[in-house]
Amino acid sequence: MMYPYQIKSIEQYQEAYQKSIENPEAFWEAIASHFTWHKKWDSVLSYNFTEPKINWFQGGKLNITENCIDRHLATRGEETAIIWEPNNPDEHTRVITYNRLHKRVCMVAQMLRNLGVKKGDRVCIYMGMVPELTYAILGCARIGAIHSVIFGGFSAQSIADRLEDAQAEFIITCDGAERGNKNIPLKSVIDEALIANKLVKKVVVYTRTRTPVSMLKGRDVWWEDEMEQAEHQVEKNGVVSFPAEPMDAEDPLFILYTSGSTGKPKGVVHSIAGYMLWANYTFLNVFQYQVGQIHFCTADIGWITGHSYIVYGPLSAGGTSLMFEGIPTWPDAGRFWEIVDKHQVNILYTAPTAIRSLMAYGLSYLVDKDLSSLKVLGSVGEPINEEAWHWFSQHIGKGKCPIVDTWWQTETGGIMISNLAGITPQKPAHATLPLPGVLPVLLDENGFEIVGNKVSGNLCIKLAWPGMIRTTYGDHERCKSNYFSTYPNLYFTGDGCLRDENGNYRITGRVDDVLNVSGHRIGTAEVENAINSHSGVIESAVVGYPHDMKGQGIYAYVIFEESNHDHQLTKQDILQTVTRIIGAIAKPDKIQFVNGLPKTRSGKIMRRILRKIAEGEYNSIGDTSTLLDPTVVDDIKKTAL
Ligand code: WT7
Repeated sequence: MMYPYQIKSIEQYQEAYQKSIENPEAFWEAIASHFTWHKKWDSVLSYNFTEPKINWFQGGKLNITENCIDRHLATRGEETAIIWEPNNPDEHTRVITYNRLHKRVCMVAQMLRNLGVKKGDRVCIYMGMVPELTYAILGCARIGAIHSVIFGGFSAQSIADRLEDAQAEFIITCDGAERGNKNIPLKSVIDEALIANKLVKKVVVYTRTRTPVSMLKGRDVWWEDEMEQAEHQVEKNGVVSFPAEPMDAEDPLFILYTSGSTGKPKGVVHSIAGYMLWANYTFLNVFQYQVGQIHFCTADIGWITGHSYIVYGPLSAGGTSLMFEGIPTWPDAGRFWEIVDKHQVNILYTAPTAIRSLMAYGLSYLVDKDLSSLKVLGSVGEPINEEAWHWFSQHIGKGKCPIVDTWWQTETGGIMISNLAGITPQKPAHATLPLPGVLPVLLDENGFEIVGNKVSGNLCIKLAWPGMIRTTYGDHERCKSNYFSTYPNLYFTGDGCLRDENGNYRITGRVDDVLNVSGHRIGTAEVENAINSHSGVIESAVVGYPHDMKGQGIYAYVIFEESNHDHQLTKQDILQTVTRIIGAIAKPDKIQFVNGLPKTRSGKIMRRILRKIAEGEYNSIGDTSTLLDPTVVDDIKKTAL
């Protein structure tokens, strides 16, 4: 390759960027040659954004676990792959070498095979943040099963929907999970999710909390028992082996559910080779990771950030990934900083919402912390406000660590727009420049591209990149209509965006009916459906509003059947209903009972008006003359929260 894999100067960035856009095939072919393949590809890229059909490295055969584990064994077998920090700081840290990771992943692969899991089968994983979660993910990948991790905060109903959508026959879970001083009974949530399920054949239960669980004969098995049996099968005379399944480059690697503007969450499908390249390339370049460094991504593996920057990015690079089971504020708000000092963390990748919340606890949690091991800081998940950016830079980075503001999505597989730590310029609250291979364009409402600088519009991507979404599981049409139909021949992100005088991008937030609450993506329609399932609710409308801590808060307008109900009690009931149907993360922050909603004559709710009221912007509500009944607006304003 004419330019290095890891970009080391602005000039190299510019050169790599230009080459990647002019000749993506040559660019990514050179990148792909760094990996282990069973068979080389026949063609690098063919794609169209109309069907859409995306094909990277067609004909190539590989297994991602050989790239994440086996290829490091000769040189780095005894180096640390994963450092695990438990929820309870008094409990022991676990250190997992690449050799140990290899053995565990081989054992999981064997266990899954023993249980009847075949290539292409979907395995749902509902576990806390324990190393076994990583073994489970990689064990699936080793035999070519498709993993679908479900965040531990989702309800039984959400899990049931996802199991059904994925047509999953296997589940891996824990008895429970510890987060802060809470104990989440994961297995009993799974039991509830399975009440009406007819497909699931086996549930593997890993013991973490010793919470009592009920084990159904013939269906439920203990991880520990199955793994012991598998160990005897994969280890012969001290040598561990389990042949990795040779997979097609475009075979699906995983499904991850995420919210859209309509209906139920959709299963975003990523395929093996492209995703692997993207996770690896973006990890090495954005964070400027050097082998031996400790990378701490604070996300949960239940989200894409954890998939790409706890598991696949760091491990594909032979790196050391720190996995934290707990939460930032327990036992106190100094926990992150304590972990940084304890494990000498070099890279800290977290979310603006965490930064804002820790900022609010004040500086006292920092006085006895050193933090001098830190070299790079990262932010992800939502726009970072300048105040949080400066606090992060000054108090955590001590003014010497670059901050990467990384914009991307579940659908993009990995980071798309970001500065490269210490290499390309940073600008507070700006994701700045696209990575090689990413061609962003801004569009106006009429579908015209907005050229030049100091402009704003809807953010789209013009070229196929290796890590992009391939389909939405079981419903390709939905993938097409969600991402590829708004603007012909472009991938539409759903985000609004500014481009400054120097070509730096600043993401301003979603332009569709998707909310970003504490960095969690939630569809307004989903929350409305949950609220509407409460027996007394006639109709509801949900919008976002600016929230100091969470970025966005959830504001629900609810029409209730009787007007003289106990408002406080009904609110609690509604919150309970939402928690039950989606999970606690989707609970509205504000519920306002109203007598009517602003609707057009065709019956469409005018959310623009509801958003203005939720924001407290009563004077810029705009034209209400097209409403069926404009007086409802005044009524709503009178009792607004
Ligand atoms: C949405 C994607 C990216 C992994 C975690 C979230 C918002 C993400 C940024 C950023 C401004 C950001 C966008 C995007 N977002 N990163 N650096 N600056 N906004 O993944 O749940 O798929 O959500 O998060 O609105 O569309 P996700």
